Amino acid sequence: MATLKVRKLKSFPAEISVPGDKSISHRAAMFAGMANGTTIIEGFLPSEDCLCSVKAMEAMGAIVEPLEELEGVGLVKFAITGTGPKLKAPTAPIDCGNSGTTIRLLSGILAGQDFTTEMFGDASLSKRPMKRVADPLSLMGARVEGQGEKICAPLKITGGPLKAITYTLPVASAQVKSAILLAGMFAPGKTTVIEPVATRNHTERIMSHFGVKWVRDGNAVSVYGGQAPRAKDIIVPGDISSAAFWMVAAAASPGEQITLKNVGLNPTRTGVINVLLRMGAHITHSESSGDGEPRGNIIVKGSELNGTVIGGAEIPNVIDELPILAVAAALARGNTLIKDAQELRVKETDRIAAVAENLRRMGVEVIEYDDGMEIIGGSKLHGATISTYHDHRIAMAFAVAGLFAEGETIVEGSECISTSYPSFERDLNLFIKGDSGAAPIQVLSRVSRPVADRLRSTKG
Ligand code: S3P
Repeated sequence: MATLKVRKLKSFPAEISVPGDKSISHRAAMFAGMANGTTIIEGFLPSEDCLCSVKAMEAMGAIVEPLEELEGVGLVKFAITGTGPKLKAPTAPIDCGNSGTTIRLLSGILAGQDFTTEMFGDASLSKRPMKRVADPLSLMGARVEGQGEKICAPLKITGGPLKAITYTLPVASAQVKSAILLAGMFAPGKTTVIEPVATRNHTERIMSHFGVKWVRDGNAVSVYGGQAPRAKDIIVPGDISSAAFWMVAAAASPGEQITLKNVGLNPTRTGVINVLLRMGAHITHSESSGDGEPRGNIIVKGSELNGTVIGGAEIPNVIDELPILAVAAALARGNTLIKDAQELRVKETDRIAAVAENLRRMGVEVIEYDDGMEIIGGSKLHGATISTYHDHRIAMAFAVAGLFAEGETIVEGSECISTSYPSFERDLNLFIKGDSGAAPIQVLSRVSRPVADRLRSTKG
């Protein structure tokens, strides 16, 4: 088991470029694998989660060529030549690792294939509810078999001739919405998902990028069956969920300033900026559009933070940032209430219990509710031993908390961080050891443009 030892913040980097967006990287790999032709993906997040999606598409016939590798980060650029929407049957069960996005989105794609596939994951993924995708996909005509009442992984999916449905999501989940829309691409007619609360819209945006038509009417999103994605190069912006760790570190440090470069600014993901603004942070961002996903630099200036209420329709927009926002709340004056966030209980771990437990270990008073927690702000944090429960966002949120604690914070089980932010420790060291703590990231290998073009022309 790896451990991360964190001491009090000593210096402040002027800027950080966070790695690629996790949600967009998964979708880029899946759409490139289902497309006719070759797609070059740049800025890919080579985390364990996203590589599961790449390997899955490769196992089902996509040809994957690595084009660029960065030291300490991994493969950030690929050429993927797709099979077209009808994939090849894999010869072995698909390993989805820790990744809910891989297993749920792939379920939608596999529902439309004419073969049976098995998917499995690690201990955490095997406890997460898959009934939420099994139900709508079964209504469409696929057979989805899983374990127990919650239809947990391992899953066995037998694709079928699908029929279009109109489905109202019982939980606000972009993964479930995406699984249905992906299956809808294989169902003749119009498949509609009604989302009571808006969730991230990366699937809709990437469908447009790959030439798949869809429409939105109020809170209903529809896709027409029988469309094949067309290959088109894509540049993935940095992940705002990863940037959030440094946004909070800066926001809670009066007098300091940081620039987070080239971060995705899709409005369905920027709730963390709104919450921090409400808490009194000074945040500005420049914006440029690119590849259907807005992106830009975020500048955060530190100040005294105040408590707030986080709940209602903004929850899906900040769902992955709630652990680090809970840390911001502990550093703020006054109390913060997080409500309507019962989905946190079925993430990589029960994030309400894990956040409450670890905040208490650091000396913070927390009242736990079924759907959230109240955090009593303003107490002095002290170093503690943190249990991550194999959850990357718990590990990173409490590593950042450690920057504000007296004494040493030991994050036990920090290997899970590679799920979403392989270069996190390097960036964290910028705050502990200063700029000298990290050498510039080296390009370990790069396929030259002519070779990349040749690869593309022979496969396209
Ligand atoms: C994701 C959607 C969210 C989020 C997860 C990634 C996605 O999950 O928590 O990290 O890429 O669609 P839900 O859709 O289950 O809320």
